[in-house]
Amino acid sequence: MKVLITGATGFIGKRLAVRIAGRGHSVIACGRSLDKLKNLSQNIIPTYLALEDKGGISQILKKEKPDIIYHAAALIYGSRENLMRVNSLGTENLFKASLDSGVKKIVHLSSVAAVSGNEEVPLEENVPLKANGPYGESKIEAEKIALKYRKKGLKIAIIRPPMVYGPFEPHGMPYLIGFLRKRMLPVPGSGENRIHMVSVENLVDVLELALSKDEIYEGAYFVADKEALTLRELLFFITEVAGAKGPFVIPEGVVRVISKLPFIGKRISSLRRDRIYSIDRLQKKLGYEPRVPVREGLRKAVLSYS
Ligand SMILES: NC(=O)c1ccc[n+]([C@@H]2O[C@H](COP(=O)([O-])OP(=O)(O)OC[C@H]3O[C@@H](n4cnc5c(N)ncnc54)[C@H](OP(=O)(O)O)[C@@H]3O)[C@@H](O)[C@H]2O)c1
Repeated sequence: MKVLITGATGFIGKRLAVRIAGRGHSVIACGRSLDKLKNLSQNIIPTYLALEDKGGISQILKKEKPDIIYHAAALIYGSRENLMRVNSLGTENLFKASLDSGVKKIVHLSSVAAVSGNEEVPLEENVPLKANGPYGESKIEAEKIALKYRKKGLKIAIIRPPMVYGPFEPHGMPYLIGFLRKRMLPVPGSGENRIHMVSVENLVDVLELALSKDEIYEGAYFVADKEALTLRELLFFITEVAGAKGPFVIPEGVVRVISKLPFIGKRISSLRRDRIYSIDRLQKKLGYEPRVPVREGLRKAVLSYS
């Protein structure tokens, strides 16, 4: 098969490219900083693609005629304007060019951020789109574009991971470890709220299913680990593996007082929230059981920075 991956120079896209190339498929690995794709595999063809460049995208798709596109390019941080330009307009450019060039299947990397404005625990996939900030809003716009192109005939899988961890993940873990080394991260109160994440290996397993399972192109799927650690378990486990000093615990009485303060109160409530995503649909519809246990995946991830 010929597989095109946008964002192949990024954390998730690169793991996916290596996995799919390892299965013998030909991978058109797209990004802008192509030096990150050097010497990975003969099956990986580094290709320059900017999501803003409609003409460039069309040219690549018409030339390569991929059987499937994985859309993993996005901005995770930035101004609202940049997030919308890349995550929303860029997605529209890619999907329109895909339709015009006869591409049949797309796997769209969305995020739980598209629904994390909802409070239910656990969250189910069918809650309304509702975000907590500009990144989530840009992912909502991208999901709406995906739904629009589904109606036009494209088969589009919508995959919503929570925080993804794995070796050399650049966005969250290095900062978490840095703060734990300096004892600068708080556990407010008991820290018994649960934080659901996903190992990059488990996520890539599910993304790979899009090559063979048609059920993935219906609705949307949360993809998360089987087990969710509590905030306390998570931070103390990372501390132990990294040999860090650890978090500092804020006693429950103090938490109750500072929770009423204007800015810090909001941060504390956010830290105390359960973030659990139902993977029932993933298990029942796709028959997928998360392969990598959370502590095993986390240990590998944390050790990659030492
Ligand atoms: N990491 C997580 O915890 C997480 C959680 C939930 C969902 N997701 C979603 O998963 C996807 C991949 O995330 P990631 O962690 O792998 O992100 P990443 O490491 O930041 O990689 C982002 C990729 O997007 C590309 N990109 C950015 N702007 C672009 C543009 N204007 N034109 C073309 N390519 C552009 C980058 O390419 P260059 O650097 O080469 O320009 C890079 O390959 C994203 O859709 C993200 O929203 C991630």
